[in-house]
Amino acid sequence: MEVLGIDIGGSGMKGALVNLETGELTTERYRISTPASRKPEDMANVFKQIVEHFNYSGPIGCGFPTIIKHGVCKSVSNLNKAWINVNAEQLFSKASGNPVTVINDADAAGYAVMHYGIGKDEQGLVIMITVGTGIGSGAFFNGKLIPNFELGQIPYKKYKKIEHYTADSIRKKEDLSFKVWGKRLNTFLELVDTIVCPDLIILGGGVSKYYDQYEKHINIETSVKPAKLGNHAGIIGAAAAVLDKNSTKN
Ligand code: BGC
Repeated sequence: MEVLGIDIGGSGMKGALVNLETGELTTERYRISTPASRKPEDMANVFKQIVEHFNYSGPIGCGFPTIIKHGVCKSVSNLNKAWINVNAEQLFSKASGNPVTVINDADAAGYAVMHYGIGKDEQGLVIMITVGTGIGSGAFFNGKLIPNFELGQIPYKKYKKIEHYTADSIRKKEDLSFKVWGKRLNTFLELVDTIVCPDLIILGGGVSKYYDQYEKHINIETSVKPAKLGNHAGIIGAAAAVLDKNSTKN
């Protein structure tokens, strides 16, 4: 079965068709920058353009960069506050004329690694951490998603949220070396380790590709592994969310 997966981030909105048996992309990835307003109507319009690009009709899975409860957006994160309490599933379904399942983007990326990647068959508590514009986290217990873990929201020193200290966008903005930034990431992972005590942490997002450059600064007790699916995990996991719609709702 081929399903359109759309991964929405603070900087870009990306889609591709995904083969749900293999977890592979069957088309090139198509990306449009997230509209500067980051408002619901503008983003729904881009969503529609992505669906039209693929001339697609059928179920669509979408990863979204906020808390998503029963399809409804429950936090602002890096978007516009107009998103609060918007039913993203209804909005995108109406805009595209297709049934859309929306889940948190880090939950989606976690889905991909747990179904098709290095998390496959892992038991116990596995935490997927995505590092990009913000920091997302997806929690899986014995392979089952526990939705909307928000570990990037932990306050840290003068920062309201630790993602304002550790996200990849901060590394770029402050032009941090991998040594300095890797130590910041380690501080965050230490907190994760203390608070939820997982069996395994999987690192995703663009920075997982450069893991060898900061691996030596990551020295927490729990095993940390980079997600091999890289940047495509968000799209693949979004598509896979349509398979397991009910279990993603809390
Ligand atoms: C949001 C999360 C999201 C993450 C990655 C954070 O700012 O709170 O819900 O998963 O960014 O996009």
